[in-house]
Amino acid sequence: MKILFLDQSGKPGGAELCLIDIAKPYRDRCLVGLFADGPFKTLLQQNQIPVEVLTNQAISVQKSSSFLQGLASFQQLLPLIAKVVQIAQDYDVIYANTQKALVIGAIASFFARRPLVYHLHDILSKEHFSQTNRSIAVNLANYFASLVIANSQASQQAFVEAGGREDITAVVYNGFDSKMYQTCESDRQKLKAELGLTGKFVVGHFSRLSPWKGQHILIDAIAKCPEEVTAILVGDALFGEQDYVQQLHQQVAKLGLENRIKFLGFRTDIPQLMAACNLVAHTSTFAEPFGRVIVEAMLCGTPVVAAKAGGAIELVESGINGFLVNPGEAEELAQVINICLQDTDEITAMANHARNIASQRFDVTNINQQIAQLLSSKFPQQISPSLLPNL
Ligand code: UDP
Ligand code: GLC
Repeated sequence: MKILFLDQSGKPGGAELCLIDIAKPYRDRCLVGLFADGPFKTLLQQNQIPVEVLTNQAISVQKSSSFLQGLASFQQLLPLIAKVVQIAQDYDVIYANTQKALVIGAIASFFARRPLVYHLHDILSKEHFSQTNRSIAVNLANYFASLVIANSQASQQAFVEAGGREDITAVVYNGFDSKMYQTCESDRQKLKAELGLTGKFVVGHFSRLSPWKGQHILIDAIAKCPEEVTAILVGDALFGEQDYVQQLHQQVAKLGLENRIKFLGFRTDIPQLMAACNLVAHTSTFAEPFGRVIVEAMLCGTPVVAAKAGGAIELVESGINGFLVNPGEAEELAQVINICLQDTDEITAMANHARNIASQRFDVTNINQQIAQLLSSKFPQQISPSLLPNL
């Protein structure tokens, strides 16, 4: 099966990192079409996945855009749609990985007469999207998609609650190669020394800097913990959230935490950094659709605390393979940090258990099999057995 993947982003967010794993088995017969240039293109190339940037014009619709704003930008999209229709002639299926990719992919699938798959990485709730954006996504998916792959039950449920057809949905979690998360003690110590964190209890936050990712909650929690507790904030403002970055720096200064909170920017050595942490905190204030960082922390064998909403509830069983706290509750988060500070055998056993479970449950080979099976059962005519991916 030849697949034309579409993704709007030039930057590597979670949906894009997930797409790398999905596209890999198809790399000799797929193309990833991007709507923006950037480091995500380089990552795809490093993974030998064919990629083409299909437009150099920014698409101006935002998550909060109104109907009129959406309509105004539609004209701007026509050349891109025409290009996708033309490229799609050489592919069996169009696979849209983001919302703007769904808009382009849906129209192109109609004109190119190719089936459409939509990989839903979002929770289509009012907290995350305007009413207009939600109904565009749901209606396009309902009318044009043969299959909607939701990244969690929470994303699937929100899609159905927003009016989406349940019969075309399937839940497939993100897959991970657990080998990528194995690190050695000496590397961990070296990295800790490089970062000036030797002897400190380190809480790591790994996410793009964005208000709903809740880095401000962790900063408040750190202020409530003993001096030896420090935090690293790993990630950058990927989508222009500069005001929030400034607010975070002001908050740190106001609380006098300059020596206890480090902003590391976007990093590519996530497994090493997570392994160097004593605890990974996930603090999203709105429901997280899936939450790759939660699984990654588990795979590194680092205890994890997550905000109790959305996909995180499907990943963490509190007290068994991590901790859950109510979203936005810095006091509760501080309590969990203080429990982990005791560094008991129970916490270590919990993290080991989490690692074992996660490496089976989210095994990338299994997850890719699930996707291959969904595609082959939806589109049997497009598959010849010799073309099944070598998983
Ligand atoms: N990540 C990264 N470098 C950073 C910060 C984050 O590579 O500096 C990765 C992180 O390891 C995870 C992804 O970005 O795989 C974020 O995915 P997640 O599902 O947690 O959140 P999203 O940003 O997609 O909403
Ligand atoms: C999106 C979601 C995130 C999820 C990722 C991969 O970026 O915000 O929760 O983990 O997609 O599915």
